[in-house]
Amino acid sequence: MTTTPASQVLDRVLVLEMVRVTEAAAIAASELIGRGDEKAADHAAVEGMRRAFDDLAIDGTVVIGEGERDEAPMLYIGEKVGGAQGTGPKIDIALDPLEGTTITAKAGPNALAVLAAAEAGNLLNAPDVYMDKLAVGPGYPDDIIDLAKSPTDNVKAVAAAKGVQPHEIIVCVLDRPRHNDLINELRGLGCGVVLIGDGDVAGVIAVTNEDTGIDMYMGSGGAPEGVLAAAALRCVGGQFNGRLLFRNEDEKARARKWGIEDLNKIYKLEELAKGDCIFAATGVTDGSLLKGVKRLKNGSMTTESVVMRASSGTVRWVRSESRKGANA
Ligand code: FBP
Repeated sequence: MTTTPASQVLDRVLVLEMVRVTEAAAIAASELIGRGDEKAADHAAVEGMRRAFDDLAIDGTVVIGEGERDEAPMLYIGEKVGGAQGTGPKIDIALDPLEGTTITAKAGPNALAVLAAAEAGNLLNAPDVYMDKLAVGPGYPDDIIDLAKSPTDNVKAVAAAKGVQPHEIIVCVLDRPRHNDLINELRGLGCGVVLIGDGDVAGVIAVTNEDTGIDMYMGSGGAPEGVLAAAALRCVGGQFNGRLLFRNEDEKARARKWGIEDLNKIYKLEELAKGDCIFAATGVTDGSLLKGVKRLKNGSMTTESVVMRASSGTVRWVRSESRKGANA
């Protein structure tokens, strides 16, 4: 049997098929919304996503997942997924079956099931460490943002390019004590700071959606989430800088194990997600990007998803309704 080049499959089949995978994870997690149990919600999403992968005709490998093999029973880094092992196209997958475990447990906004897919070797194999992130939406001159510069310099550059004053710039930041200096610096400039409790994949993507009013994203969060957000920005436009942050020697060793030599490197979009790639997300709870899973009185369920492809820049919004009693 001949193998299919990945780019063809990314074009023709995978784009919509990926939505089934995030839908399955979101539906499974939605049963745990507001139940106060982060682990159970995550576990349900992982199981839902893992099962859905079996129906995809790919030879997939998880490159960003639930942890290393000894830490995670399913969807661990290196796990093979897809029903066409050895014959289907070789695809690397970055996934987060439940981005926002705490959000889901507390029924807050912006929990998502997300994944990104690309030809083998095209996604940065980011270790599970923190990443300093800086993002801006589409329509700005190249390299308008630079993580090597201060938050003030970046706000001023974006404000000048937008034709507004720095105090008119709105920045989204994760609400964490480690960001106190950043928040004070931004407020010192008069910027609006939108503080989010969790979920920086949605936070970064918010810069691409004018309806949110958010111009920039700043601050540190998970590196895996950084790669996922970068894949989305590759598809819809915008700029992103990310730099891995290490808290100890063990984290540095983990990065080296994944082939990362320059530990201070500032990664741009194309270095996090190269070539053609797909990003898919389904809302678990309502958020700025997507509505969450809804269970209707008649027993039906609705989901809202988005799937995007970098090479075409196509963004498809998918609203699915599964009727009670209908075959899956
Ligand atoms: P989980 O879904 O794994 O709980 O991640 C939520 C999240 O807010 C991410 O969006 C973000 O990148 C990370 O946690 C930030 O980490 P921390 O909570 O340690 O600041």
